[in-house]
Amino acid sequence: MKILMVCLGNICRSPLAEGILKSKLPEEFTVDSAGTISMHRGSQPDFRSVQTAAAHDIDISQQISRPVTLEDLDSFDWIFCMDERNLYDVQKMAQNEHQRKKIMLLMDAAELLPREVADPYFGEEDGFEEVYQQIDRACTVIAKKLISQENFTN
Ligand code: 4NP
Repeated sequence: MKILMVCLGNICRSPLAEGILKSKLPEEFTVDSAGTISMHRGSQPDFRSVQTAAAHDIDISQQISRPVTLEDLDSFDWIFCMDERNLYDVQKMAQNEHQRKKIMLLMDAAELLPREVADPYFGEEDGFEEVYQQIDRACTVIAKKLISQENFTN
């Protein structure tokens, strides 16, 4: 089972989501992350995300930003997007209904509110801890569903 976390730059939110979900799943699950823009391709996560994850004993410092590819839409089983814009951009890439059905908001997959994980990039540092907590809540539900092989409904 392969899960892809998606945000805009793949340096703030989706690297956190990758690290957090990975920490809740056994090794046979693959968790990766990507961005809808390629501007940060090759970069490590934003230091504020790295520090926030480290404060929770999760090391995301070795992740490298990359853009979402068409191949991802085939190779991943679920693609969880942080906000509506990310969802729209990935949905636009989908070439068939099978691909489209894999793509959903992270918070919808967890059936939690608010529906979006807001971009902390231009905000204050404590925004990263809030984002961490929100993603952590969602990933607790999602990991449980994945382990018990429950489906996610759009
Ligand atoms: P992310 O945050 O999508 O959570 O990785 C952002 C990263 C970079 C930019 C915006 C948001 N940017 O405008 O460069």
